[in-house]
Amino acid sequence: KHIYHFDSVDSTNTIAKKMAAEGAFDGTVIIAEEQIGGRGRLGRSWISPKGTGIWMSIVLRPNIEPTEAAKITQITAAAVANAIRKATGCEVGIKWPNDIIIHNKKVCGILTEMGAELNSVNYIIVGIGINVNVDIKEFPEEVKKIATSIRACVGKEISRKDIVKEILLEFQKLYLDFIENKNIKKSIDICKKYSVTLGKQVKIKNRDKEIIAEAIDLTEDGQLLIKNESGEMQTVISGEVSV
Ligand code: BTN
Repeated sequence: KHIYHFDSVDSTNTIAKKMAAEGAFDGTVIIAEEQIGGRGRLGRSWISPKGTGIWMSIVLRPNIEPTEAAKITQITAAAVANAIRKATGCEVGIKWPNDIIIHNKKVCGILTEMGAELNSVNYIIVGIGINVNVDIKEFPEEVKKIATSIRACVGKEISRKDIVKEILLEFQKLYLDFIENKNIKKSIDICKKYSVTLGKQVKIKNRDKEIIAEAIDLTEDGQLLIKNESGEMQTVISGEVSV
């Protein structure tokens, strides 16, 4: 339907934002073969070489409050994890809030960005970056330690199209369920099932704070329920988790 395919772009998220500001429909998809200025979370860059990965953004216009944006990230993580499992057989895990991993190394990152006015969401962009056929031998040394690819998992090249198709199907199912029923239970169940965070002792960095805690559960709205060092339960909406 509304799928745009580009050869080379700065960042599909940036293009998606521009299109959203100009009125793009809910569900518009932007895919690129290569990103020159691929962006990651926390101001990091995202290496996006030509033809070897899925660099994609989806424009969404849900009728939600800005505080609910984190729910969209959980829906996306659930959809991508399910899709990669179905399309490739790789047993991926979800590292809360938004990394898809294989054997403790990142294979996919999700960048959720929001355009809001006053207290209402105008649009949400979900950016999905998946290392599909990247040869991990070509990663820079520091990246090798923390990142992997689908190809490294399966042992051969995999069709990016099949994975994209599966992601869009899974995403549509879970997102529409949220829009129609106002809850993300299905997505949260998937995130729990594949979580590599729950039950572990974790370190959570959020802005300038660092908490050491045990990851207990995911709440119905996608926050992480933790038991901190003084034994108190609290929830966190986002952050960098390390084990
Ligand atoms: C992260 O883990 O830090 C998030 C990485 C998100 C990368 C994707 S690739 C498609 C989209 N466009 C971007 O510039 N970033 C996201």
